[in-house]
Amino acid sequence: MGKFEVLDHPLIQHKLTLIRDKKIGTKIFRETVNEISTLMAYEVSRDMPLEDVTVETPIAKTVKKQLAGKKVAIIPILRAGLGMVDGILELIPAAKVGHIGMYRDETTLMPHEYFVKLPSDIDQRQLFVVDPMLATGGSAIMAIDALKKRGATNIKFVCLVAAPEGVKALQTKHPDVDIYTASLDEKLNEDGYIIPGLGDAGDRLFGTK
Ligand code: URA
Repeated sequence: MGKFEVLDHPLIQHKLTLIRDKKIGTKIFRETVNEISTLMAYEVSRDMPLEDVTVETPIAKTVKKQLAGKKVAIIPILRAGLGMVDGILELIPAAKVGHIGMYRDETTLMPHEYFVKLPSDIDQRQLFVVDPMLATGGSAIMAIDALKKRGATNIKFVCLVAAPEGVKALQTKHPDVDIYTASLDEKLNEDGYIIPGLGDAGDRLFGTK
């Protein structure tokens, strides 16, 4: 089973509480999601492998560490996942960014990809799949299915708020995927919103509705 971690750094917790407030407007919401995403990227990248490299300082030659292993790609699930990309790029600026969008056919209820544009070497990369809300888990599962179908093997899922139902569904369908969240909330309501959550993350990020 992959990891499940609630990132309880005080700055992450404080900033998440700020954006739960329904009175917070689009500008502050967007900026704060960026900041939380940067802080989460710091925690999520903690197990990145290092290798030795020789470096010559102005004083002496020495052997020190640099990042080794797989390069990163960030994969936002459209549309709300876009809000987390820039914050992660602050810390991992060389990461590539792939996009993945899906809708569910209203009549057949079958998932359909409507947009998938990925770096050509996703099989070689550590993927951070990002979506602020892990609610039922449906879109995360579909997105990861789509990535695995194209060769991805090394996937971390990063969200701001998770519902127990979504965590369970994602762990059941993709037990190899590590899940990181800033909060594990109570449950879903009958409309599929997370309680207490923060509302519709896409609408709050983009000022729609
Ligand atoms: N998606 C959201 O944006 N918010 C929720 O609470 C659940 C799904």
